[in-house]
Amino acid sequence: MKIARFSRVGFILAAAGSAVGLGNIWKFPYITGEYGGGAFVLVYLLTVLLIGFSIMIAEMLIGYMGRKDTVTSFENLAPTNKHLWKYGGFQALAGLFIMIFYSVVIGWIFHYIVTSLTYLPSSVQEAETTFNLMLHTDIWTQLFYHSAAFIWITYVLTKGIKGGIEKMNMVLMPALMIILLGMFMYALSLDTFGRAFDFMFASDWSKINSEAFVVAVGHAFFTLSLGMGAIMTYSASMEKNSNLVRNAFWVVFLDTTIALVAGLMLFTFLYQYGAGPAKGPGLVFISLPAAFYEMGIIGNVFAVLFFLALAFAGLTSSVSLVEPMVQYFIDRFDWSRVKASILMGLFFYLIGIVALLSNIDGFKEYLTWGDKNFFDWVDYVTAAIMLPAGGLIMAVFVGFIIPKSKVSAIMKPQLGFAFEAWYFSLRYLTPVAMFIVMLSLMGVF
Ligand code: PHE
Repeated sequence: MKIARFSRVGFILAAAGSAVGLGNIWKFPYITGEYGGGAFVLVYLLTVLLIGFSIMIAEMLIGYMGRKDTVTSFENLAPTNKHLWKYGGFQALAGLFIMIFYSVVIGWIFHYIVTSLTYLPSSVQEAETTFNLMLHTDIWTQLFYHSAAFIWITYVLTKGIKGGIEKMNMVLMPALMIILLGMFMYALSLDTFGRAFDFMFASDWSKINSEAFVVAVGHAFFTLSLGMGAIMTYSASMEKNSNLVRNAFWVVFLDTTIALVAGLMLFTFLYQYGAGPAKGPGLVFISLPAAFYEMGIIGNVFAVLFFLALAFAGLTSSVSLVEPMVQYFIDRFDWSRVKASILMGLFFYLIGIVALLSNIDGFKEYLTWGDKNFFDWVDYVTAAIMLPAGGLIMAVFVGFIIPKSKVSAIMKPQLGFAFEAWYFSLRYLTPVAMFIVMLSLMGVF
C-alpha cells in the first residue's frame, strides 16, 4: 500500500496550522491581560525558547522514527518495557478532550462571522450583554454552530493526510497570514501601537504569582501543540530525509510570531477604540467587537475578516487534535478512516454539548465544581496538566530511553554542535521545569 506523505511545505503548513490556533489569537491575548502583561509574556517566551523548541524536535523525532500512531511509535522505539512505554502514546487522548471546548468556541466564532456582517455592538456593555446572552441562554445558536464545526472537522479527517489535512492547510494558513498581516499594518499606523507594545513587553514582576507561572508554561505547550501527539502523528507522515530542526524552527517561529502579532494588533485596537486591555475569555468576543464598532463601516469588514482568520486558525488546529486518535484506531484496530473519523468526531461533539450546557443558566448549577464549570475544568486540566505531563514523557523518552546512538545518528548531522545542548535540555532542563510546575500546581509556593 502506498503511504500518503506530506510534501515539504505541506508538512510545515500543517504543523504550523496545528500550532497556530485559538491559543494564539483568542487565548494568548486574554491570559496576557489577565496575568498582567510583560512579565507573563516573558515567562512564556522563555519557555518556548528553552523548552518548547527542544520538545518540538523530540516529538517530531518520535513520530519520524516510529512512523505509526503515537501508541505504536512509543512501543516500537522503546528498547525494553515496550508494554509499559506504549502508554506514553495515550497522551493522544488529550486532543479529544481539548476538542470538547475547542469546538464550542469555534461555534461562537462562526456565529460572530455571520452577525458581524450586519451588526456590531455600540458599547462594551452592549457587547457584554450580547455575548453573555449567547453564552448563558442561547442553547440553539451554540448547538447549531458547534454542529457545523463538528461536521467540517470530521469531513476533512475522513479525507486523510493528503486530500484533507494538507489540502485545507495549504489554503487556510496563507489566507490567515494575509488577513492578520493586513490588519497588523493598520494597527501599526495608529498612535496607540506604542502603548500596546509597552503593555506586552514591559515586565512588571509583581504581577507574576505561581498561578501565572503555571499558566504561562502550560500555554507554551498548548500553543505549540506539544505534549499530546499531534505533531508526532503528523511527523509520521513526514518525507524521508526531512530536516527536523528546520521544520521545528518554522513551526515555532510562525506560532510565536503570529501570537505576538495578534496580541499587538488586538491591544492596539483596544487602546485606540476601546476600553484598554480587557480580561477574560470574552476579550475577542466583547471588547473587540465594541472597538470595531468605533471604526465605522471598515469595522464591519475588519470584524468579519478577523473572525474568519480566527475560524481558520481554529479549524486547522482541530483536525490535528483529533487525527492522533483517528490514526490510532486505523493502525491498531484496522478501522477504516471514515469510521475512525466519525466516531472520534462524535466523541468530542457529544461531550462538547455538555461543555456548552455547563455555561447555560439552569444547567450550570449542576455542572460546576469548585470555582470552575465543566467547560473551564476541561481547559484547565488539559492545558495546565495533561500537555506538560505529555511533554515531560516525550523529553524523558528521547533523552533517556531511546538509545543515544540512534538519536544522535539522526540529530547530530542536523544539529551539529548544538546537539549536546538540545540533549541536555531534554534530559535536565525540561524535567526540572516540569517539577517546578508540578510543585506550583500543588500549591507548594
Ligand atoms: N496549538 C493549538 C492552539 O494554539 C491547540 C492545540 C494543542 C492543537 C495541542 C493541537 C495540540 O490553539
